[in-house]
Amino acid sequence: MGSNTSLEPLLMEGDRECDNSSPDFNEKNNPRSPFFTRKSLSVFIANFLLLILSVVILVFAKFESSRQSSLCTKEHSFYSPALEGVKYEKVRFAGLPELDSKWRGPPSSLLDEAWDNVTSKVPEIPVDESVVHRTHNQLDINSLTRFPPEFGGQIYSEVEWKHQLHCLNLMRKYIHFDYYKNTTSLFYAYSSDEIVNHLAHCIDMLRQSVMCNADTGLIFSYWIEGHDHKHVDFNNEHVCRNFESLLEYQQQNGHLIAQKLLVRHPGAVDLPDYPENVTRLMMRPEERNKYYL
Ligand SMILES: *[C@@H]1O[C@H](CO)[C@@H](O)[C@H](O)[C@H]1NC(C)=O
Ligand SMILES: *[C@@H]1O[C@H](CO)[C@@H](O)[C@H](O)[C@H]1NC(C)=O
Ligand SMILES: *[C@@H]1O[C@H](CO)[C@@H](O)[C@H](O)[C@H]1NC(C)=O
Repeated sequence: MGSNTSLEPLLMEGDRECDNSSPDFNEKNNPRSPFFTRKSLSVFIANFLLLILSVVILVFAKFESSRQSSLCTKEHSFYSPALEGVKYEKVRFAGLPELDSKWRGPPSSLLDEAWDNVTSKVPEIPVDESVVHRTHNQLDINSLTRFPPEFGGQIYSEVEWKHQLHCLNLMRKYIHFDYYKNTTSLFYAYSSDEIVNHLAHCIDMLRQSVMCNADTGLIFSYWIEGHDHKHVDFNNEHVCRNFESLLEYQQQNGHLIAQKLLVRHPGAVDLPDYPENVTRLMMRPEERNKYYL
């Protein structure tokens, strides 16, 4: 009777359905109800047991699916403690040139605030030596920059996406150089050659990231009445990492620290050369990553 109908939505839909069924359930439990007979009591108990069973199955299924999804993320990503913040979702990219967006448009303090929020205001995460052993052929662990003692003294790390967004932001500002030249230290404190080199580094880092993540989504185009040229539709769906979740991971696990506070800690050992030079010397030719070249 009632038992099957209350179970089906539980198994087929999410836990919201599970919450919705509770008020119904409580109504039946009302001892003042004239329908509270011996028969309805056994129906109630059967219902209750099925509810418990389906909640257990639902919780297990959710747990198992998030465990599988987290395993897939780990299998397809280089290790980082920030993988903990990864959640996937479907997102439609906004490709229309005329589209209003807080990320684009002529320079303004609001536009700068949006970019600052995801670049300079993103905290850096402290990690311990076991993380470095997992992720790097460390050249000398004692040469790594650390947070100062009042920030915990752990090894200082920056998340890649923050640097990538910093690079895009720098390119965005360079387009409006006159507006930013007096307020952006990377512009006013460097010669024009140095700025161009910095931007070239940025472009090449972003190139490697795009190649590394090579998006295989399909872009179609349409013939439009009255137009001679096809119109490309960039507004496609993508499976994305939820950015808010990753930002929150940095905010909850990191420290926002002024670069000038990062000074050599007691016992710091200087590397004799830039890390890329040492790495280059240590690499066998067949090890050279093609994106690196
Ligand atoms: C920047 O972040 C703050 C704090 O999260 C938020 O209140 C503000 O709306 C953000 N600004 C923009 C332009 O996104
Ligand atoms: C930038 O600084 C220069 C020299 O200090 C000044 O002449 C110029 O007006 C400033 N520009 C802006 C946009 O503030
Ligand atoms: C690192 O290598 C580059 C070119 O390979 C060289 O110019 C530089 O002197 C080396 N070392 C340092 C500390 O810059």
